[in-house]
Amino acid sequence: VPVEAIRNFSIVAHVDHGKSTLADRLLELTGAIKANSGKQVLDNLQVERERGITVKAQTASLFHSYRGKRYLLNLIDTPGHVDFSAEVHRSLAPCQGVVLLVDANDGVQAQTVANYYLAREKNLVIIPVINKVDLKNANPEKVKEQLQILLDTDEVDVIKISAKLGTGVDQVLDAVVERIPPPTVARDQPFRALIFDSWYDKHKGAISLIYVKDGSLSVGKQISSAHMKKSYEVRNIFLLRPHAENVKTIFAGQVGAVSCNMKSKEAHIGDTLHLRNQSVEPLEGFKPPKPMVFSGVYPMDQSQFVSLQAAIDKLALNDSAVNATLESSAALGRGWRIGFLGLLHMEVFIQRLEQEYGAQPIVTAPAVTYKAKILGSKNITKYQGDTVIFNNPVHFPDPQIVSEFYEPMIIATIITPDTYVREIMSLCREKRGVEKLTKTIGGDRLMLQYVMPLNEVILDFHDCLKSMSSGYASFDYEDYDYEPADIVKLNVLLNGKLVEELCTIVHRSKASETGKKLCVKLHETIPRQLFEIAIQAAVGAKVLARETLKPYKKDVTAKLYGGDVTRRKKLLAQQAEGKKKMKMIGKISLPRDTFINILKR
Ligand code: GTP
Repeated sequence: VPVEAIRNFSIVAHVDHGKSTLADRLLELTGAIKANSGKQVLDNLQVERERGITVKAQTASLFHSYRGKRYLLNLIDTPGHVDFSAEVHRSLAPCQGVVLLVDANDGVQAQTVANYYLAREKNLVIIPVINKVDLKNANPEKVKEQLQILLDTDEVDVIKISAKLGTGVDQVLDAVVERIPPPTVARDQPFRALIFDSWYDKHKGAISLIYVKDGSLSVGKQISSAHMKKSYEVRNIFLLRPHAENVKTIFAGQVGAVSCNMKSKEAHIGDTLHLRNQSVEPLEGFKPPKPMVFSGVYPMDQSQFVSLQAAIDKLALNDSAVNATLESSAALGRGWRIGFLGLLHMEVFIQRLEQEYGAQPIVTAPAVTYKAKILGSKNITKYQGDTVIFNNPVHFPDPQIVSEFYEPMIIATIITPDTYVREIMSLCREKRGVEKLTKTIGGDRLMLQYVMPLNEVILDFHDCLKSMSSGYASFDYEDYDYEPADIVKLNVLLNGKLVEELCTIVHRSKASETGKKLCVKLHETIPRQLFEIAIQAAVGAKVLARETLKPYKKDVTAKLYGGDVTRRKKLLAQQAEGKKKMKMIGKISLPRDTFINILKR
């Protein structure tokens, strides 16, 4: 395929606006897959099917005939959730244009705006497409108005489709050919390609998804990378159509997957591949995504440490945003502190560990990264600099030696129908938010912007927002530096003994309320045991809340005294099974998910 006949593009949209459905239609229309294959082909991970979201960007190379000419369209699918904006960034690297998909009923939403600005920043051609025009309440005219007010799009450029029914989808394909330019590449230059994704395959090992910027690459060639400086032999090259299709050579402008004898850890996203004996200028890589939310992840028992490590390594290869460092805890043993982009990212990662690797990790409550300025005393030798950075409550510095704490802030963008605006504003204030902007954006929609502490957002802000607006409000956020904050460490004591793994960091104004909730939640979660358990929440020496868990008296086998032996054995086995999922903290056994669940509503 000549370069002029290549189009590299991506579909970007707010969650649920129909990206996967449109991608499937494009695949069918171009004959890459059979029509009515039923499921969404590009969402191939189990988690994605269950949660109905696209987590991992996937690519498909399609052939499309337009005015008697054959075009190669490389479609790069992107995730839609706020947590995964780093993946959207990467997916856009090989692209010259995007299809910006907007639901005809929902209209422009927070991530529509975020994606639009991202595409514009990268100078990509934007094709505005209104989807779901078949819906009874569809209002494409209102959506057009929003697109005009907010994103300055020209009305004549807007395409109206129903991805579900397939109407108008051919216009999208034609627009991709007509409006998006071919990639600017040089086939006569030495081979140079960008790794924009990588994953681990059981049979083929590490696989890199590459965008060939210059030259060409064939099977059997020796290659190296700007970052690794090692030598590898190319074993397989394949196009994703979307199922792997082997080719001997891949040319500049194309997108494809390469397997060679590269180790998982060596396939760096953002790295530049080149032929072994040719030095080239490395392509611009990616800013490493910044983890925002940190949790401790531990094996149920230490015998599973090695297998959990292997599982985390493999998943981390598939997800460059995950950042794991070793840590150990008194109660939980050796484990990792893992940084995630957000709470959903974390939940998906843990779920994948469980489903794809059969792991049963213990996960501690998530925390953000705080900073503390240390007083200038000579006695403090523990801290070298004058600022301490921590994201684990265990490392909370002694407040006596801190002159000021700082917490990370975000700027939140919320789009909502005006009926919910008062409740949403009061939610934002409750979450310590400061209003920056309120603006009408067409129809009955408003856009709000608040500066808020990240800590208030990670746990349940999104859920609260969704439930108070019956699902109609949408939310996206960006980093907004650090601000001074009066934070404290909320200690949790079980029978008077501090359990570090259950402690959390909160704003002083919320300590009492959070402490009460935490105690109630623990009271609900911890099963009764043979002795009474006092559950307390405290800041320093001051106890803020207490619950008492009464002892458990009944012996499960008592009523079977002298009875059926097999039944008795079965009951004991069940009891043992129940215990297996428990973690002993001192003499007290806690269910595996206690640590992560205590802060949730
Ligand atoms: P994420 O991957 O989670 O970001 O979602 P998505 O944007 O890929 O959305 P998806 O394709 O999964 O579609 C979301 C829902 O909208 C599904 O229930 C689709 O069946 C439905 N849907 C998509 N396109 C249309 C359409 O044109 N009309 C109607 N009525 N429903 C549609």
